[in-house]
Amino acid sequence: MNGDVDIVPIGDVPVDAVVAFFDRVPDGDRTFFKEPVAGAATVQAWTSGAPGGPASTRLVAVVGQGGERSVVGYAALIGGVGWSSHVSELRLVVDPEHRRQGLGHRLAAAALEVALGSGATKVVVEAIASQDATVGLFLQLGFVAEAILEDHVRDANGGLHDLIVLAHRSADTWSTLATVGLDAPLD
Ligand SMILES: CC(C)(COP(=O)(O)OP(=O)(O)OC[C@H]1O[C@@H](n2cnc3c(N)ncnc32)[C@H](O)[C@@H]1OP(=O)(O)O)[C@@H](O)C(=O)NCCC(=O)NCCS
Repeated sequence: MNGDVDIVPIGDVPVDAVVAFFDRVPDGDRTFFKEPVAGAATVQAWTSGAPGGPASTRLVAVVGQGGERSVVGYAALIGGVGWSSHVSELRLVVDPEHRRQGLGHRLAAAALEVALGSGATKVVVEAIASQDATVGLFLQLGFVAEAILEDHVRDANGGLHDLIVLAHRSADTWSTLATVGLDAPLD
């Protein structure tokens, strides 16, 4: 499954390919991005590592070869600061045309491995509590539900949704990575 998909740092692919990916994400999903993704300027800021913001690692899933390569998934790990400097936040989105093929699982597992390597001892992810499939993906990876924030997310139509915060502890990470077939560090 996904044998022809590579997971690489975002800086390895042209900015345009990343922008095209985010343009393909449906509005319904876009509602739930915590950070606005406003075209090339946003992506350039990510890849240039603009000073002042929290440390971050961004990975993309890529299909195709050479000039035909396109981005079909994205995972970000945003480092915490101050008293949460041991915590990273994971954000994940997969191209609708490539969902249900294990790509979200692969990207999340790769991001967990990066988190472990960076010394983070806790990784959190925020999701819409009613999205059982999304929550299920993270539970499969060893995350546990830690909090529900009621009416915490407002969508583009003004509808309110409960937010669930799921957490993963580093003590569990190696067993989880072994479960998903990543039981040795990647280059
Ligand atoms: C959540 C998301 C990243 C999942 O990506 P994906 O590539 O489809 O996930 P996977 O194929 O790896 O799915 C892994 C498991 O999650 C569950 N799952 C994922 N999507 C599902 C769906 N639509 N219905 C039922 N189960 C689903 C299943 O258990 C699945 O395993 P299976 O296919 O063997 O049954 C994708 O739906 C997405 O981008 N959503 C919008 C953004 C978002 O909500 N991000 C999460 C919060 S940051």
